[in-house]
Amino acid sequence: MTIDKSMMPGSSGPLEASSKAEVSFWSNKYVLGLTATAGIGGLLFGYDTGVISGALLYIRDDFKAVNDNSVLQETIVSMAVVGAMIGAAAGGWINDVYGRKKGTLLADILFIIGSLVMCIAPDPNILILGRVFVGVGVGIASVTAPVYIAEAAPSEIRGGLVSTNVLMITGGQFLSYLVNLAFTEVPGTWRWMLGVAAIPAVVQFILMIFMPESPRWLYMKDKKSKAIAVLENIYDSDRLQEEIEQLADASRKDSLSGKIVSYLDVLKSKEIRLAFFTGAGLQAFQQFTGINTVMYYCPTIVQMAGFSSKQLALLLSLIVAAMNAVGTVIGILLIDKCGRRLLALASLSGVFASLLILSYAFSLQSKTVGATLGSRAGWLAVAGLVLYIAFFSPGMGPVPWAVNSEIYPEAYRGVCGGMSATVNWISNFIVAQTFLSVVGLVGTGGTFLIIAGVSVLAFLFVLCFVPETKGLTFDQVERMWKDRARGSGTAAKTS
Ligand code: BGC
Repeated sequence: MTIDKSMMPGSSGPLEASSKAEVSFWSNKYVLGLTATAGIGGLLFGYDTGVISGALLYIRDDFKAVNDNSVLQETIVSMAVVGAMIGAAAGGWINDVYGRKKGTLLADILFIIGSLVMCIAPDPNILILGRVFVGVGVGIASVTAPVYIAEAAPSEIRGGLVSTNVLMITGGQFLSYLVNLAFTEVPGTWRWMLGVAAIPAVVQFILMIFMPESPRWLYMKDKKSKAIAVLENIYDSDRLQEEIEQLADASRKDSLSGKIVSYLDVLKSKEIRLAFFTGAGLQAFQQFTGINTVMYYCPTIVQMAGFSSKQLALLLSLIVAAMNAVGTVIGILLIDKCGRRLLALASLSGVFASLLILSYAFSLQSKTVGATLGSRAGWLAVAGLVLYIAFFSPGMGPVPWAVNSEIYPEAYRGVCGGMSATVNWISNFIVAQTFLSVVGLVGTGGTFLIIAGVSVLAFLFVLCFVPETKGLTFDQVERMWKDRARGSGTAAKTS
């Protein structure tokens, strides 16, 4: 009796990664350059979502209407996320029809217009308009950058390269806090904080003009010689041959190759439904396990824990953001070694434990009237926050983006990646909009306990549904979904 390991949820079974002429992370300067250029999209994603909390303090000083109206404040913050939902939904289609390169250039134009509009905004409405522009740019970049990187990456380092984009996101958030601190004394404060984001967008626009289109997209669009010319820069001659054969094979087998699939097509085939369920589920769980309650509300949480000084709250937020970036580097180092599943499962276990600590600390704190700086409960809450980030950042930060960049067949990669990124942004919006109300309803301790419950569900989801894609070629991933759709992918098969 033999067990076919490919039929088990976590196994890629006989689909073992090719070992021919393996490329290491640092050895291919061309792919690294392409990743860094595409990653500027991640930097802008992180910067534009991170900068607003600090900028808002000064916008309130300049516009009385904003100061007096909390709905207006929430609108300024959340319109970028609404824009990102639209950008992510449209971005998948733009990627498929016009290519990854044009998708990136379009996002840059939106970033530049949005940043400049915000910088000169004469009133809150124009400011909100600028936030929408920037948000749409963030949404398009959030879909395009991971796919563009994944399609150029050798499969054995794909996870690390796509996670580099996540490092740019967390780095961008950290940078936004630093920039906020730097401009507090400069006349124009928030106008500079929001306006400087145009600079990386201009840099990316110029660099992108010299970058190639994605070789896989070119091949799918029947521009084979152009695709091969790009691949020649990535692989040595042996491996090049192998890659071209795989591409030719995939496009022969794929009846949709070169065609534009619609959003509805995703629901028509079982294997695509399965893949989308997995990808979108991961994206939703990334948000519902609370990362942005920590990123957006860190100073508030620190103050809730009894540390009333604004400076200390901001300093601790800066430390949390720095830890998030350092943790992502650890994720980059691990993702192609231990695989996506193990990393996500270990991350969720730690996240669960940290949330329990946070919940306990806040329930203690609510019993101690007037908790003061240095109280046991206050420090326990800070320890919980730090542990949360230490566990989240290497796993649940990069894994959903990496998995979504690699689990869909070529013809669906844009559209499915876009749809699942939209799920990420919608979930982000729900969590950000409801966090403080839920705290009002069940207390901070109760809220973290609910999120801890969600992290258990997320663990079970990864355990049951997420396949291991470490080192697999796109073709192997596609075959794996076909096997699963045939009903052979959910249980161990014996013969
Ligand atoms: C998430 C963002 C989050 C960031 C925090 C990313 O992977 O998608 O929503 O703000 O990580 O580090």
